[in-house]
Amino acid sequence: MPERIRLAVLASGRGSNLQAILDAVRDGRLPVDVALVASDRRNAPALDRARNAGVPAFFCDPELYPDRTGYDRFVAGLLKEHGVNLVALAGYLRIVTKELIDPYRDHILNIHPSLLPAFPGLRPQRKAIEHGVRISGCTVHLVTEQVDQGPIVVQAAVPVYPDDTEETLAARILKEEHRIYPLAIRWFAEARVRIDGRRVEIQGLARPYGPLIVPAGEEAR
Ligand code: GRF
Repeated sequence: MPERIRLAVLASGRGSNLQAILDAVRDGRLPVDVALVASDRRNAPALDRARNAGVPAFFCDPELYPDRTGYDRFVAGLLKEHGVNLVALAGYLRIVTKELIDPYRDHILNIHPSLLPAFPGLRPQRKAIEHGVRISGCTVHLVTEQVDQGPIVVQAAVPVYPDDTEETLAARILKEEHRIYPLAIRWFAEARVRIDGRRVEIQGLARPYGPLIVPAGEEAR
């Protein structure tokens, strides 16, 4: 039996991805214990979502630390104290440093609302529209020192329509985020993830997902 995952979610804002994870755990679709939720924003709705689910919620105040490194050292210590062995960034608006990445290398995930490596960084939905792409989507990837460039675990694609605004496209992508983030975490919980350089292999997929683009509307097993 693989070690049961104790997941930490780091979130700065509204926390809808966190909610999708909490719902999946509650419904028995995601066999992990959510050990804690931590935020760099005192009033992040994500912290309320955690409390409502009975999950320990921590506001970690960046102002108490001289720099990002000091902050991340503190956060890594908090996670270790709580026996965390997998970390999910979910709308976490901080660039994470080696201090947090090193102790969780290959066990720290992020979700980004574009088909990486297209449109890294801020406001990727707006960039996708401005660029005129016909397909966009979301990516769950491992976190490395290079922002939004870590190995890709899973992606989902959505169409981009001519009359889309940043908001309508973001909403379409968000639905897919809520589907693939719990899925990716489940693969880790089931110890099915093998990492080979940039390539991530998911063992025992019911069908070969090729480049791991999960077709919208289709359940991945
Ligand atoms: C999501 O679009 C996520 O991909 C991006 O930030 C947004 C967070 O939304 N990194 P929420 O806080 O999970 O609702």
